[in-house]
Amino acid sequence: MDYNQKILIVDPIHQKLLSYLKKNYDVTVKHPVSREELLNSIADYGMLILRSGAKVDKALLDKGKALHTIIRAGTGTDNIDLAAVSDRGIGFYNTPSTNSRAVAELSFGMMHCLYRHITRASNEIRNNIWDKKSLLGFELSHKKIGLVGFGSIAKEIADIARGYHMDIHCTVSNYTPARASQLHERNITLHADIKAMFKACDIVVVCCPYTEATHGLINAQALACLNPHAILVNVARGGVINEADLYDALKEKQIWGAASDVFVNERQPSPLFDMNNFIGTPHIGAMSHESQQKIADLIIQYLQKQSHNSSTGERVTPRLSTTTYP
Ligand code: MLT
Repeated sequence: MDYNQKILIVDPIHQKLLSYLKKNYDVTVKHPVSREELLNSIADYGMLILRSGAKVDKALLDKGKALHTIIRAGTGTDNIDLAAVSDRGIGFYNTPSTNSRAVAELSFGMMHCLYRHITRASNEIRNNIWDKKSLLGFELSHKKIGLVGFGSIAKEIADIARGYHMDIHCTVSNYTPARASQLHERNITLHADIKAMFKACDIVVVCCPYTEATHGLINAQALACLNPHAILVNVARGGVINEADLYDALKEKQIWGAASDVFVNERQPSPLFDMNNFIGTPHIGAMSHESQQKIADLIIQYLQKQSHNSSTGERVTPRLSTTTYP
């Protein structure tokens, strides 16, 4: 069996990429895939293509003896043990920033839904409830927006926020006065302390990578700094927010509402789903035609280069992305 040509795909990818792969490789698509199924089948494949739907850890890599390449069709690498991948000499490729605009736009959709009760109103009207007076909300324009992290998603959010005449604030893991003054020149206030930013803002968007440093970063103490009309939007990873603390804050109506596209345990129910001041989506930040097409194009280019180089005996250096809190 030629394992080199056998690809396992465990997450949704663009049709263009799927067609390319089917033409050139022996492709198996399994999504969603259970952990057990993945562990039992990985030995048969040379290449694994995934997004956030599976975990690549030592246990999986130990079973995937024929794996030579892992492709993360997206940005985040928090579900992949990059050190273990590299120790085993497996090539790794991802497509950082390709979906930043899609994620940024989704975060604005969530802000509108929260402040204008759009999802609730839409559900009510289907039941012939026309309760206009309980649907009074807020505009986004001229609000103070705080971005947790200032990487490529945050930059896109800031770009859109300017159109709403928002006052833009952010926090980063490596605050320096020099960075603060650089951002100040772009009319962005960089806070040294996340709680100070929470106190100052009406809207907080969490858009930093999930790392040890950001695990549980948004907890009860941070949430207590928000005002009762504030909204919190998470487009990063579930683990950045302490979900139990968020649940309490929503239950006590400490804040106006929260929305999240990401959860600690995805594909499972969460107590948050019972709260009517909460909106959830199933990790669809990158699900725009545009970003999936960009990701497809980059992966096709990478594979073409790889197959060209293997025919000429050269090796493509796999790119390992860094996951700091920008
Ligand atoms: C990413 O990190 O690229 C996002 O989580 C999107 C995804 O893979 O679905």
